[in-house]
Amino acid sequence: MKSKLVLGLAVLVWISWGGGSLLRAQQQPNANRTVQAVVFDAYGTLFNPHTVVPISEDLFPGRGSELSNIWRAKQLEYTWLRGLMGQYEDFWQVTESALVYACKTLQLQCGPSTHERMMESYLKIDPYPEVRQALGNLSGYRLAILSNGTPDMLQAGVESSGLDGFLSQIISVDEVKTFKPNPRVYQLAVEKLGVEKDEIAFISSNAWDIIGAKAFGFWTCWVNRSGATMDELGFRPDATVSSLADVVNVLPGR
Ligand code: LAC
Repeated sequence: MKSKLVLGLAVLVWISWGGGSLLRAQQQPNANRTVQAVVFDAYGTLFNPHTVVPISEDLFPGRGSELSNIWRAKQLEYTWLRGLMGQYEDFWQVTESALVYACKTLQLQCGPSTHERMMESYLKIDPYPEVRQALGNLSGYRLAILSNGTPDMLQAGVESSGLDGFLSQIISVDEVKTFKPNPRVYQLAVEKLGVEKDEIAFISSNAWDIIGAKAFGFWTCWVNRSGATMDELGFRPDATVSSLADVVNVLPGR
């Protein structure tokens, strides 16, 4: 009886001290937090990795989309494999290896000048059409990129797509020498931005990236432009939109 009384008193003290809200915050991430920073994936979300299609179509008529699709798929696969093996090479090198694979698999002659021209598309990459306006609508928040890209690739991409004025930070996985969805990458954003993880809204078009970010503890919004199916890995985005322009309407606290 006495021990129950002591336990009851301890719970009351804990709740009045703030423990109750701590518990609620853990159960419902973002319930008591406001978003301080909106963090974007780069390739596939802000930048269109298929910018290369007209160039590859010009070089290899009728094969442009196929080449671009295999290149992109292999590029991502190599990041996951290198991450698992603990054999980091930066995203520029991974992208080059994936291009060599894609050319070989389609039996296309990609000599040095072709290779260079295709790789350059990553430095002169196009944004998706709605990106500038969507970032403008979010100007009340701190905006950042968190990407597999190298700092040089990201800087070039941001400049070529006219996004420099919108972003307070460009964060590259190169600082932790591994790739998404390793939790160390998402933690890097927390450290660089100096905010709590549940104050970050993470935006990506890549379903696997959304799952990694959600598993880490970010509030997440999936930009599903193509009507793709979400992966079955036990995590769901907090919001799903079909265009980056809609992100502003679904952020928590709005
Ligand atoms: C990135 C990859 C996922 O930008 O495209 O991180």
